[in-house]
Amino acid sequence: MKKITIAIDGYSSCGKSTMAKDLAREVGYIYIDSGAMYRAVTLYCLENELFTPEGINTDELEKAMSDIQISFQLNPDTQRPMTFLNGVNVEERIRTMEVSSHVSPVAALPFVRAAMVKLQQEMGKEKGIVMDGRDIGTAVFPDAELKIFVTASAEIRAQRRFDELKAKGQEASFEEILQNVKERDHIDQNRAVSPLRQAEDAILLDNSHLTIEEQKQWLKERFEEATN
Ligand code: DC
Repeated sequence: MKKITIAIDGYSSCGKSTMAKDLAREVGYIYIDSGAMYRAVTLYCLENELFTPEGINTDELEKAMSDIQISFQLNPDTQRPMTFLNGVNVEERIRTMEVSSHVSPVAALPFVRAAMVKLQQEMGKEKGIVMDGRDIGTAVFPDAELKIFVTASAEIRAQRRFDELKAKGQEASFEEILQNVKERDHIDQNRAVSPLRQAEDAILLDNSHLTIEEQKQWLKERFEEATN
């Protein structure tokens, strides 16, 4: 069967990665979480004190970009991808609220996007890849054979993230998460470079009222249509 490129874009916390990961596992494709890459750069900024009261120290960050190495490895026990920053497993640390609340301005920097897009295109050049993010169908792989744009209401997305953090034993307030979801939507949609928008040839999925199983099935059907 021919290998294709699958781009899954959409709002934050709307279950893109769950469906992308499940499909990749089922059809034997590589899964890449592009948001994890922006989160890793953000963690680097936090660890290197590049957030100042005046904003991000962009001069220092731009100089540091060539020293920021991001890669993925499958966890042999869970079969889930783990994100590495300069050889260190940062999968847990990039999912904290601290990183979530700092990531959007970092992801809006043109030189950060240019570096990440280059790396993402490199990772996908053999096809057989499912990548999720905000600009995969519009900027990273505009020729992807299957493009999905996922959405759900802000309240439902905040509840999902709240449940996720709670399950991991992390303290969180629903109101704070909802605020963060709305803020990120706003920044992601209004930034100058590659704002979040649906590609013209993307299929829209509103999963507000779908179970994980139902959305998995829906995606599998779209995959079969695209590959047959
Ligand atoms: O999907 P996520 O919540 O892990 O993404 C983290 C942030 O990175 C989010 O604020 C948007 C940004 N992002 C982006 O700008 N482009 C992508 N392709 C993926 C994520």
